[in-house]
Amino acid sequence: MLTPEENELLCRVEGDAPMGRIFRSHWLPALLSEEVADPDGAPVRVKLLGENLVAFRDTDGRVGLIQEACPHRNASLFYGRNEESGLRCLYHGWKFDVEGNCLEMASEPAESSFCDKVKLKSYPVVEAGGFVWTYMGAPETMSEFAPPVWQPTPETNVVTTKVIVGANWAQMLEGSIDSAHSSTLHSSDMVPARVPGAQSTVTQWQRPSTDKAPRMVVQRTPYGFRYSAIRRPIKDAATHDYVRTTLFVAPYVVHIPPNNLHRSCTVHVPRDDNSTTFYFVAFGGDTVPAQEDWRKLHANRVGFDLDATYRNTRTRENDYKQDRQAMKLGNFTGIPGITNQDIVMWESMGPIVDRSHDRLGASDLAIVEFRKQMVEAACTVAAGGPAIGTTEPRMPLAKLASFEGIVPKTSDWRTLGASPEEIAINAEMAKGGAKSHAAE
Ligand code: FES
Ligand SMILES: [Fe+2]
Repeated sequence: MLTPEENELLCRVEGDAPMGRIFRSHWLPALLSEEVADPDGAPVRVKLLGENLVAFRDTDGRVGLIQEACPHRNASLFYGRNEESGLRCLYHGWKFDVEGNCLEMASEPAESSFCDKVKLKSYPVVEAGGFVWTYMGAPETMSEFAPPVWQPTPETNVVTTKVIVGANWAQMLEGSIDSAHSSTLHSSDMVPARVPGAQSTVTQWQRPSTDKAPRMVVQRTPYGFRYSAIRRPIKDAATHDYVRTTLFVAPYVVHIPPNNLHRSCTVHVPRDDNSTTFYFVAFGGDTVPAQEDWRKLHANRVGFDLDATYRNTRTRENDYKQDRQAMKLGNFTGIPGITNQDIVMWESMGPIVDRSHDRLGASDLAIVEFRKQMVEAACTVAAGGPAIGTTEPRMPLAKLASFEGIVPKTSDWRTLGASPEEIAINAEMAKGGAKSHAAE
């Protein structure tokens, strides 16, 4: 449970809200590089932290991320002409480059120097791992861009879905760190593997357990926290545990447990207080699914399941086209696609869920930790302190990894999937009184 005030601190990201300032202290995925693939191609609308922006790739291949409203009289630059190294407003022809400099003012006298005095808001941009990234904080606090969590090396294969969801970022992130729901909501897609050693395929993720009530343990880390859901395995339950370890990398990334084909991250970038851009990233070696197969699996293909702006064609208005007949025939949800199943749950809670009367159980340990940690983080920023994840010791994000496997009961869950560097840092932090606790 959170008080209404705490809920506001956790959820609100627009304007000067403390949580928004935390997001502005980190590099954020603004859009996919493929959306602005062509130099001089069509501009794209981008909404981030309540700001309406436009992205475009100029003649020289540089990507710009600028305010959507033309500084002249507020016409939208989304409709502008992208040509000759700049975006030209259709209304009176003012033209801007990727850094927001005014290049031309067709409506002003040729001798006027007014153009030099007008600049529009533009944010710095880096392309990596299939994404266009931006930093929306003060330039003097901008950290050097680090390789994204999902592309530790340039050779790593990366594929992703993208979908715009009508729900606040925090309730979506709570879904991503909620290991317990996968045994129920996704039970038709993540099936118990009754054949020993059965492997996941692109369309069916096997899991060697039928245990729907995992024991949860959590440990705070400098980047957020890691937690494990420990289940009884189908085989060797007396001596072994089936462990799925999830990492929360504040403020917006979750490393979910891998399968034998790929590793995965979910990414929750707030568009505003009430909507979020959700990316489901798979990465790794040769067994990473093809981009199209990955999007098909999640029923997140543009032109099929999504419109051209990545909005779902399954909506609350059409009850997400839930198929009750398929449910009768054995499908648990009647909703195709793991991500779609999550979206229905997230949006069904209302844009910003009221956390003042929810009833949390033992399996909600990670949710409790997330709320506590991020409300504390927002209070720290509101009091003038630094944003979570920006202070020393900092773990190189590309070294973080989640974990999934059957291990002897004697294993220390805190070390599973963790690099020696992380184990040392976390142990040091735990000595200093950081939270590490378990709920039976
Ligand atoms: S409103 Fe854009 S040039 Fe006039
Ligand atoms: Fe889910």
